[in-house]
Amino acid sequence: MSKRVASRDKAPQNLLVALKEAQSRHGYLPHDLMREMAESLDVPVNDVYGVASFYSFLAIRPAGRNIIRICKSLPCYLKNSQIIIETVAREIGIGPGETTPDGRFSFELTNCIGLCDRAPAMLINNDAHVDLTPEKIKQILKNYE
Ligand code: FES
Repeated sequence: MSKRVASRDKAPQNLLVALKEAQSRHGYLPHDLMREMAESLDVPVNDVYGVASFYSFLAIRPAGRNIIRICKSLPCYLKNSQIIIETVAREIGIGPGETTPDGRFSFELTNCIGLCDRAPAMLINNDAHVDLTPEKIKQILKNYE
């Protein structure tokens, strides 16, 4: 086995570690930085984008000051999470995957966040909000500037 092949075998682990470090340094993963990372780790740039966009804890765009993550998994879906998603989208004026122009909110859908017994549920930053109803959403959002 050549040195180059051995180095490529470690690339996925090194890549994830490098992406996590870059994310904590910059708050997200700028495109130029991902290109440089691909060169230095000797992996295709598409692999870097693939990993960066796969993990929900990695962001390829600057995130808002507050990150809303609504659970889209089945137990929450069965408790009308779609109505919650629509209500949040209407209140903040953006859809999932977007950030408000003023940088106040980023909005994401996520898999189970471990609050199924109190579905539908969402996280805003590290705060859990459960047993959601459309009526609760407006009040909750007021707490995040
Ligand atoms: S399914 Fe929504 S929190 Fe678990």
